[in-house]
Amino acid sequence: MGFARRVIDWQLQHGRHGLPWQGGCDAYRIWVSEIMLQQTQVAAVIPYYQRFMARFPDVQTLAAAPVDDVLAHWSGLGYYARARNLHAAAQAVVAQHGGRFPVDSAVLNTLPGIGRSTAAAIAAFSAGERSPILDGNVKRVFARHFAVDGFPGSAPVEAQLWALADQLLPAEHPGIAADMQAYTQGLMDLGANVCSRGRPRCSLCPLQATCAALAQDRVAELPAARPRKARPERSSLVTLLRRDGQVLLERRPARGIWGGLWSFPEAAALASDHAAAGTGAASASASAADVASPSVTVWPGSARRFEVRHAFTHFTLHLTVQEHCLPDAYPMPTLTALDLRWHRQQDALRLGLPAPVRQVLEQVVQTDL
Ligand code: ADE
Ligand code: SF4
Repeated sequence: MGFARRVIDWQLQHGRHGLPWQGGCDAYRIWVSEIMLQQTQVAAVIPYYQRFMARFPDVQTLAAAPVDDVLAHWSGLGYYARARNLHAAAQAVVAQHGGRFPVDSAVLNTLPGIGRSTAAAIAAFSAGERSPILDGNVKRVFARHFAVDGFPGSAPVEAQLWALADQLLPAEHPGIAADMQAYTQGLMDLGANVCSRGRPRCSLCPLQATCAALAQDRVAELPAARPRKARPERSSLVTLLRRDGQVLLERRPARGIWGGLWSFPEAAALASDHAAAGTGAASASASAADVASPSVTVWPGSARRFEVRHAFTHFTLHLTVQEHCLPDAYPMPTLTALDLRWHRQQDALRLGLPAPVRQVLEQVVQTDL
């Protein structure tokens, strides 16, 4: 039996029936229900739907109502743009369609708040139109049944899923209208209650015999998750002070990145520490210019600059290491606020060093020998 036929037969036997918006073909009532159901579960929608319909029984009443009244009846359902669009669409139907609610998906799709899938659902339920739906639940069913890789929200995967949705529609035949209602509702019901995100019930699924994800044991990994955002970039300027075969390193605070490891002190921290320590000789940081930008200390003997990149889980660090070779006679700066220590270059390489720090130090020591 074909895909569509199995969905239809399953929906007639096991799908949801008797919901307040089913069993009629008033496009207005169906439209309101589909908008409410977009981001809200059936059970939560029912009481709101009944109150809404009692207050706004037809599109004219809704169009004529103050928007605040519409919002008040939506209060608690969330996603209030849905209510504002509902009101705007009702006014458009009155102004542009003579108050007759459209049942053609192409026309529905032009109204505020009605996307392609919702337009097709309203057209199928109210007039049996043969158009495919593709909401989040249906994407999951298709992605699993056809083992479609990639994030279903991405444009190329979504286009692929729309093409599948189109090909899978029941074939044209007399009586297609009733089939389209059952098929459309069946896909929604399968997505919500059988092929659910967390615990799909494949043993109850009418599609199990042909499901590629089930056959390949990939049900849990499909559909693919939204790809992680690119890591944010951070940059840091650090200072490599060298004097008489020694390098100045800072032990990182126990918490935070590189906790407890030895690294090059950050230029800004070193500058403020140096200024605080008040060692006159190199206190160029006390000059007027440096008060305005306290992150720079002018150490004598500026030499090389190294750039290293390091990927952490949550960001990418661009580390700029500015080397300064202090003259042997240069007075040792007294530095207090940071956990700073002078290490002999060869000893430094035996310390616990973060990878990019080791990389730079090795380069420095090698080119120096
Ligand atoms: N979610 C969206 N449309 C629905 C419908 N017609 N029935 C059940 N859940 C739905
Ligand atoms: Fe979804 Fe399982 Fe049915 Fe495949 S067999 S469509 S994974 S419920």
